Amino acid sequence: MSFEQNNGDPINSDPDVLQMKSWMAEDRITDSVASFVAGNGIEKLILNFDISKLSKALDDVLKLTNFQGDMQDQGFAAIPLNRRPGEDVSAANDLSGRYWLRADDRYIEEPREDIVDEAAFSEFNPMFKGTYFETVHQELTRRFPIGRMRILSKGLYNCNSWHRDPEPRLHIPLVTNPGALFIVNHHVTHLPADGSVYFTDTRGYHTALNGGEHNRIHLVAALAY
Ligand SMILES: [Fe+2]
Repeated sequence: MSFEQNNGDPINSDPDVLQMKSWMAEDRITDSVASFVAGNGIEKLILNFDISKLSKALDDVLKLTNFQGDMQDQGFAAIPLNRRPGEDVSAANDLSGRYWLRADDRYIEEPREDIVDEAAFSEFNPMFKGTYFETVHQELTRRFPIGRMRILSKGLYNCNSWHRDPEPRLHIPLVTNPGALFIVNHHVTHLPADGSVYFTDTRGYHTALNGGEHNRIHLVAALAY
């Protein structure tokens, strides 16, 4: 006797059995997973940059820093685009800074690392003067209180910790693929590299992941509100 013929069985009126049938009737496949979908904590600005100039600026910076092809070989790599005025060497804590996370099965939120004074990062790195990133820095700082501005890469099949930060961030994807996703609380979306500037409210729990087979490099600027 097949499942369909089993109509007299009271198990067929079980709410989970009925719910399962309706779930199975739904189509879960959607092309929107390969595009940007705004949601609570992740928005797109009207401001837009020239993606070909952004790509060229990334090439320039990778050459100047000798990162070249190996930026993606690491799980996480960061190139600071700005600094505290006159400060040539950045402190180890400046690479990440204060964040909070629930690290284990106690579900207790704990702080990690030290607070970074984002507003102190007011000087564009002279090493990258004349690149399109200097224009990006000028346009952003005209509009917003910009803190640390960095180039961040995410290795293949790599993700950040599930954490929250003291301040939100702006993301400008430079190189990406459809498997690279950003998650804030319960909202997840891909961020295409088309010159768009995205607001990610990283005051909420978030992570970034690269589940694709190719590079994912973003320009990320802290908002020092
Ligand atoms: Fe973060």
